Amino acid sequence: MPKELNLHIASIADIPMFNPDECQKGFPPPVVKFRSEVAQADGVLIASPEYNFSITGVLKNAIDWASRKPDMPFAEKPVAIFSVTTGVLGGARVQYDLRRILAQLDTLLLVRPEIFIGSAKSKFDASGELTDECTRQFLTDQMVAFHRWILRCKGAVEI
Ligand SMILES: Cc1cc2nc3c(=O)[nH]c(=O)nc-3n(C[C@H](O)[C@H](O)[C@H](O)COP(=O)(O)O)c2cc1C
Repeated sequence: MPKELNLHIASIADIPMFNPDECQKGFPPPVVKFRSEVAQADGVLIASPEYNFSITGVLKNAIDWASRKPDMPFAEKPVAIFSVTTGVLGGARVQYDLRRILAQLDTLLLVRPEIFIGSAKSKFDASGELTDECTRQFLTDQMVAFHRWILRCKGAVEI
């Protein structure tokens, strides 16, 4: 992560299943927390596995809650994505579904570099630390590009 960026990990583990009737009564506390974390961030980085050629149910569920008015926190939010799978393709299919969903939310999506981390079992140690130098460099390059993208979205640097 470039020194100008601080990483805060937002948990979606406690978010209940989306239900329009419940939504009309007001956002449940874990949803309020998640929406506020997205709203306060300069940019959102989504790291995802691939489930059955697409995005996971829990991620879609969190996005569905975040997509409801008022004050949609993803609107005009810089977003970067990367995917990690134990298979060789590294989530080649999930990313395009995720991009389509995030386009509907009016996010400002970083296009390049695209990062697909495949064969994950050989790239992380038992504690989950990323040990593959080449992959670390790819991710570093993406974070540098994301930092610049955030500044561009804020109008702080010229295109
Ligand atoms: C229900 C389910 C469906 C999956 N479908 C895919 C898939 O379509 N493509 C793929 O590359 N990996 C698939 N995987 C593997 C995951 O992307 C991931 O590599 C695996 O769950 C290991 O990650 P974890 O340690 O975070 O669980 C699937 C895993 C699960 C549990």
